[in-house]
Amino acid sequence: MRLALLGCGTVGQEVVRLLHEQSADLTARIGAPLEIAGIAVRRLGRDRGDLPVDEDLFTTDALGLIKRDDVDVVIEVIGGIEPARSWLVEALRAGKSVVTANKALLAEDGVALHEAAAEGGGDLYYEASVAGAIPLLRPLRESLHGDRINRVTGIVNGTTNFILSAMDATGAGFAEALEEATALGYAEADPTADVEGFDAAAKAAILASLAFHTRVGAADVHREGITEVTAADMASAQAMGCTIKLLCIAARGVDSTGRETVSVRVHPAMIPRSHPLASVGDAFNAVFVEADAAGQLMFYGRGAGGAPTASAVLGDVVAVSRNRLAGVRAASESAYADLAVRPMGEALTRYHVSLDVADRPGVLASVASVFARHDVSIATVRQGSAGGPAGRDGDGDAELVIVTHVAPDAALAATVGELRGLDIVRSVTSVLRVEGDA
Ligand SMILES: NC(=O)c1ccc[n+]([C@@H]2O[C@H](COP(=O)([O-])OP(=O)(O)OC[C@H]3O[C@@H](n4cnc5c(N)ncnc54)[C@H](OP(=O)(O)O)[C@@H]3O)[C@@H](O)[C@H]2O)c1
Repeated sequence: MRLALLGCGTVGQEVVRLLHEQSADLTARIGAPLEIAGIAVRRLGRDRGDLPVDEDLFTTDALGLIKRDDVDVVIEVIGGIEPARSWLVEALRAGKSVVTANKALLAEDGVALHEAAAEGGGDLYYEASVAGAIPLLRPLRESLHGDRINRVTGIVNGTTNFILSAMDATGAGFAEALEEATALGYAEADPTADVEGFDAAAKAAILASLAFHTRVGAADVHREGITEVTAADMASAQAMGCTIKLLCIAARGVDSTGRETVSVRVHPAMIPRSHPLASVGDAFNAVFVEADAAGQLMFYGRGAGGAPTASAVLGDVVAVSRNRLAGVRAASESAYADLAVRPMGEALTRYHVSLDVADRPGVLASVASVFARHDVSIATVRQGSAGGPAGRDGDGDAELVIVTHVAPDAALAATVGELRGLDIVRSVTSVLRVEGDA
């Protein structure tokens, strides 16, 4: 099996190392040796340490490499939309098999890749694109194909999980925790894709597509990042026996006409400490799957890093190589269910709302009537200041903390909007969704 490696950075270098170190085992497992035909990079002169590979294999002509007749499998670890998309479409149409770690491309235009794979007859595997080393996509697309998945809830971005875990453990604010993450190499110089939830949203789209046999793209995912999460929010969560995580949630549902739908969202949310995802700390990832027959399943491990991601890439390389040798191709994309993607306003969720209100009689009743007007039922009300004893704060204001029952997101947002306009509400200090059974 002749491999074209596109990209030789953090992941690509580990792919080269693993191919070298595991060479004999991989040959035995596949039934044929794996050989690197070429490595396409942007800069030929870049220092890549002491990679166990011939310098002559490096090229800047990726397209020329892909088009070579002696290339069977193309491994793409460059990232970004273009030129990766054009190159992979070219490779797939030419009948090569493709292994990629590119979540952004799959979420943006997975359809083009799947169609090109179907046209060319090769395989398209992308285990490394979601949750790094954790075997997750194969279980969704193979092991659970006899079951009906109802919900997938995940922590799929290590950077934000590191930041929120630090805020939880130390009481630090977002900026301080981000600084620590950057210093330790968990956050990139430009952390936007992570902290604004773009990375998690791309992964949510891939997970939802596989779990619900429906094409879900990045644009279908409701996305909110963690930049607005404050130390006070975390303290409020702790007071309720919760923590805050950036969750990706893909859930099956039914709309008002009885039609089956799927909602896909990424946002910070409070979860009770008893929830399996609450104890996922540091930069780890975990995905919680709920299925009809299998019940609850949890996948946990390292979601990023060169070696963990390369492990997933190599697993895919073994699978597609075996398929090629056997003259078969894996089942193609399964999008038969074609469920409608539900707008965020119709997603069912609970809210935790903290209000700074005037401390006078009748305030609680007025606030409660706003919730009632929007048909949002209140589960609990607590009066006091976050982290302090329940009661007045001494300067004529009081804090009200309200947790609602499940309601459509739009109704909860309208409630908060109306509360913001009330005279008796000095400010809405925190609004967070609550997930999991409290
Ligand atoms: N890093 C992780 O932990 C991780 C985890 C999961 C998934 N991924 C995914 O894996 C992919 C690669 O990530 P990475 O962290 O390894 O990236 P990286 O360290 O930035 O490496 C990118 C590689 O692509 C090459 N490259 C960039 N543009 C190119 C072009 N136009 N033509 C040819 N080569 C080009 C670069 O060449 P030069 O070396 O010459 O600059 C470099 O070797 C991305 O899709 C990422 O989302 C990464």
